[in-house]
Amino acid sequence: MKILITGGAGFIGSAVVRRAIADGHEVVNLDALTYSANLENVASVADHPNYAFEQADICDQGRMREIFAKHRPDAVMHLAAESHNDRAIEGPLDFVRSNVVGTAVLLEAAREHWNGLAEPAKSAFRFHHVSTDEVFGALGEDGAFSETTPYDPNSPTRRRRPAPTTWSAPGAAPMACPSSSPTAPTTTAPTSFPRS
Ligand SMILES: NC(=O)c1ccc[n+]([C@@H]2O[C@H](COP(=O)([O-])OP(=O)(O)OC[C@H]3O[C@@H](n4cnc5c(N)ncnc54)[C@H](O)[C@@H]3O)[C@@H](O)[C@H]2O)c1
Repeated sequence: MKILITGGAGFIGSAVVRRAIADGHEVVNLDALTYSANLENVASVADHPNYAFEQADICDQGRMREIFAKHRPDAVMHLAAESHNDRAIEGPLDFVRSNVVGTAVLLEAAREHWNGLAEPAKSAFRFHHVSTDEVFGALGEDGAFSETTPYDPNSPTRRRRPAPTTWSAPGAAPMACPSSSPTAPTTTAPTSFPRS
């Protein structure tokens, strides 16, 4: 399968890229290379014949169309995002631009690509948006979120997340192509850009 992975030079995205290559998939890593990107994280697969890299901004509709037409992916895993919440206080518009506008532009490019696919590729195509449990707000001392937990993004930095997550949820009618949007908790590691 050929997978277009956005944000593949970031912390989580680069792990997804490495795993997909190890599992025998073709990967197109699409990343704008912002402050949180680190191509060292994908250096181990950079020369692999199944790996391609496109430096591009997901807000750039022309480039997104070009990349879908050039690579014709079977699936998208969307991880490109402004993910460092501490920066959302000083630069909230960057968050709206990449996370909200960028996700909408990418979804639209995916929908156009999907519209042109023939069966069985059309039914098999998936747009998989990796979201965050921040959409649910804060958990108490115990308990757990589930997929049916109501959204409650109870801080300014969390409020930027539900829109794109909702658009990519299964059956999101306006976007039409098959999609999903899991929500995962925040984690960190030596390979991630420092979070405060
Ligand atoms: N890190 C975590 O613990 C965690 C947990 C749950 C969910 N998530 C979610 O997973 C996704 C990825 O998280 P991460 O920790 O890898 O983030 P990260 O900040 O390490 O990486 C984000 C990547 O996206 C790229 N990017 C940003 N804006 C872009 C744009 N406009 N166009 C193209 N590329 C762009 C950056 O260059 C970077 O390589 C985010 O949506 C995040 O909320 C992360």
